[in-house]
Amino acid sequence: MPITAILGAHWGDEGKGKVAAALSRRAVACTRFQGGPNAGHTVYCDHSTEPMVLRMVPAGITTGAYGVIGGGCTVNIRMLLDEVAALEARLGDVRHRLLISNRAHIITPKHLKDDRDGAQHIGTTRMGVGPAYADRAARRGYRVGDVMAGRIGDDAGLEPGQLEEFRDTLGRSCGDDSAFLRHVLDRGGRVIAEGAQGMRLDVDHGDYPYVTSSNTTVGAVLTGLGVGPRDIDEVLLVTPPYVTKVGGGTLPNRVKAATEAELRRRGAEVDGVTGAVRDIGWLDLSWLRHAVMVNQATGLLLTKVDCAAGFAELCLIDASRTIRVRPWSIAECESPYESRGLGAFITQLENETMTEVVAVSNGAETDAIAFKHERVAVLA
Ligand code: IMP
Ligand code: MG
Repeated sequence: MPITAILGAHWGDEGKGKVAAALSRRAVACTRFQGGPNAGHTVYCDHSTEPMVLRMVPAGITTGAYGVIGGGCTVNIRMLLDEVAALEARLGDVRHRLLISNRAHIITPKHLKDDRDGAQHIGTTRMGVGPAYADRAARRGYRVGDVMAGRIGDDAGLEPGQLEEFRDTLGRSCGDDSAFLRHVLDRGGRVIAEGAQGMRLDVDHGDYPYVTSSNTTVGAVLTGLGVGPRDIDEVLLVTPPYVTKVGGGTLPNRVKAATEAELRRRGAEVDGVTGAVRDIGWLDLSWLRHAVMVNQATGLLLTKVDCAAGFAELCLIDASRTIRVRPWSIAECESPYESRGLGAFITQLENETMTEVVAVSNGAETDAIAFKHERVAVLA
């Protein structure tokens, strides 16, 4: 049982964290392979109304899987210590299920400062992620393995005592992600690869320069975890019925102000990390087809259908043409595949992208998800 990749089709915040948590129920491990604390994955677990916001730890740790922070990630040591402490306050010991790659790069106070000073340029999350990846490429970065071996120079500017705290608290969780995953995969274990951000923020395939500093597309699963292409058998592209964006660059096909305000309220479209209010636009089919092509998606995962229910005006865009969509009711979200309005929307997406909608997320709670097939349901 190989890897299921869960990737964002747009600018992030498509609902990947919740989907990764749901699909991790029967997986051995849930992994993050790129990005850092610029990501904010919100999950509602065990009928709690209190959300858990995860920045670096994979969301699947909340549903019992091992959590692997792969070598392609960047980590902020202070924030990771705090994130693990917050998770343990809710879930009990998670450290024995956490693996932090020795190859992951660390974000230093200098990176944070550089990102804050230069952030106006494209409106980053100011979490130091871009400068940390820049130092990685320039071969002057520090990695988790360096922290463990005490090879961190004063130039990193870490707070006194922080390295020791990290080693004492999370030292036993650090190791070789690639070897661990090989072990799991060779014994038939399912692995979830939980993407962060989305394709339009991919440093190569996105809206350069308004992008993040890592690849968010399928190739990053391989390099970020140290696995091979034959290990991946499902590539699921996550999309809501509308798109959202924070940060610099323009959002095409932005919805009218009143619709935006209502969608924002229902979808809680405020960023989990920065608190930035998300702009909302109509879903562009030509872009979705492009994302399917680049990632060779095996399926679409439609999220937030409950947030878009009951709207008089709902549209899709195709090559600058606006297509009005028949709205659906909240009751239809219970059984999306059998319903008329939502069912028609699903069929339209499938026909336009030549890709099946394999599951529909119909609420914020982790288990609010309807599967079309056993093929995917068996993972949840
Ligand atoms: P950075 O990743 O902080 O360098 O920011 C680069 C761009 O990506 C900015 O426009 C951010 O708003 C955007 N971005 C980064 N991470 C996320 C995310 O997790 N969700 C949504 N947008 C993001
Ligand atoms: Mg987010």
